[in-house]
Amino acid sequence: MSNALTPVLTKRWLSPDAWQLDTYERLDGYTALRKALAAEPDELIQLVKDSGLRGRGGAGFPTGLKWSFIPQGDGKPHYLVVNADEGEPGTCKDVPLMMADPHSLIEGIIIASYAIRANFAAIYIRGEVVHAIRRVQHAVREAYAAGYLGKDILGSGFDLDIVVHAGAGAYICGEETALLDSLEGYRGQPRLKPPFPATHGLYSSPTVVNNVETIASVPYIVLGGADWWKSMGTEKSPGPKLYSISGRVNNPGQYECSLGTTLRQLLDLAGGMTDGHELKFWTPGGSSTPMLTADHLDIPLDFEGAAAAGSMLGTTAVMVFSHQDDPVYAAYRFTEFYAHESCGKCTPCREGNYWMVRTLRRILSGAGTPADLTTLLDTCDNIFGRSFCALGDGATSSIVSSVKYFKQDYLDYIEGRTPPVFSPEAHELVGAH
Ligand SMILES: Cc1cc2nc3c(=O)[nH]c(=O)nc-3n(C[C@H](O)[C@H](O)[C@H](O)COP(=O)(O)O)c2cc1C
Ligand code: SF4
Repeated sequence: MSNALTPVLTKRWLSPDAWQLDTYERLDGYTALRKALAAEPDELIQLVKDSGLRGRGGAGFPTGLKWSFIPQGDGKPHYLVVNADEGEPGTCKDVPLMMADPHSLIEGIIIASYAIRANFAAIYIRGEVVHAIRRVQHAVREAYAAGYLGKDILGSGFDLDIVVHAGAGAYICGEETALLDSLEGYRGQPRLKPPFPATHGLYSSPTVVNNVETIASVPYIVLGGADWWKSMGTEKSPGPKLYSISGRVNNPGQYECSLGTTLRQLLDLAGGMTDGHELKFWTPGGSSTPMLTADHLDIPLDFEGAAAAGSMLGTTAVMVFSHQDDPVYAAYRFTEFYAHESCGKCTPCREGNYWMVRTLRRILSGAGTPADLTTLLDTCDNIFGRSFCALGDGATSSIVSSVKYFKQDYLDYIEGRTPPVFSPEAHELVGAH
């Protein structure tokens, strides 16, 4: 019998040395693989479809459906690529998962590769997290030595090789097609879609790109079945989810809950707001998801609930800000990130973010005018829906939502009620660049 807090993905995390193969095997590890290899690949795709598993990388695309897009009998090699880039500010679930339980990811990779008939899989990990890269490399070595990887896995006739690839720390390389370019050795910039990776992915061959948490969910679905998975979460967003809570809470960290859990419940789990702090604004899923306010404490944090409230579930990176935090400064810092990480391929994102940083800096230096707010929103209008990839769309979220909920905070800078953050000279210095 499971309830909203029965750990699934995190059930081994507190066991000593959970990342070692023998611990993993002792705690049910690789039993799902044996079951999966006894099934037909198409049965596994159907199982994942039936479970309603949706991608945990941000967009919530149905995983089984994505796998079913891989053409069969096409004579081309097929690839599975795991997106472990995790570069979105606030997002910190995939690295803890890889540190605590890397074999759950590897077991998921083998099952998913078998299902889509891929004999090669890559794990693309953000280059800065050297500790996670080493841990996954160690687990891959252990899996090879135990016969879970390589030729004729567990006597099934199925072969699979896994390569662990370290990125160089560019946020855009988390975008699936930029990731594929980077993996091929090119500069990481998004590709035009269509064609989609399902037909023209890695080396122009059919490829599934999935997030770490998505793939690590697969062994549990194979063992527990689709109905069990659907018994958690909500009708359209089933299953458990890793919520990463950071900011003004007493116990920031990873909390595994059923999809649809509210911020009020998450705050309870995280020990409440830090003393002396009242909730002012928060993001449900990282810096690219529109800010929400204390009025949204009870919305269900699933794909539908976050969207109905005017935001997005994203990566469930819940960043909690208090009345001692400044939504204008937060929007500025997020925008600086997007300006820095914009790959420069398309004009709206490359130019728009550059100018929005300058406009926000003018406001924060006390030299802004009410027209700057119009300019900011107008620039967002010209970026959103007009950029080549979703980085541009995401860059507008914090500005549009902070102006929507906290216009007065902007006006307080403009009308001199809030002391400037930057001196006018600093603003001029930036303006001269
Ligand atoms: C700028 C940008 C960065 C992204 N970064 C990541 C990331 O770090 N990890 C991830 O899984 N998905 C990221 N995504 C989403 C991927 O493009 C893709 O949708 C995802 O890996 C698909 O996996 P899923 O179906 O399992 O969610 C990013 C998208 C964009 C536009
Ligand atoms: S939206 Fe930004 S990151 Fe995406 S292609 Fe355009 S410039 Fe590059």
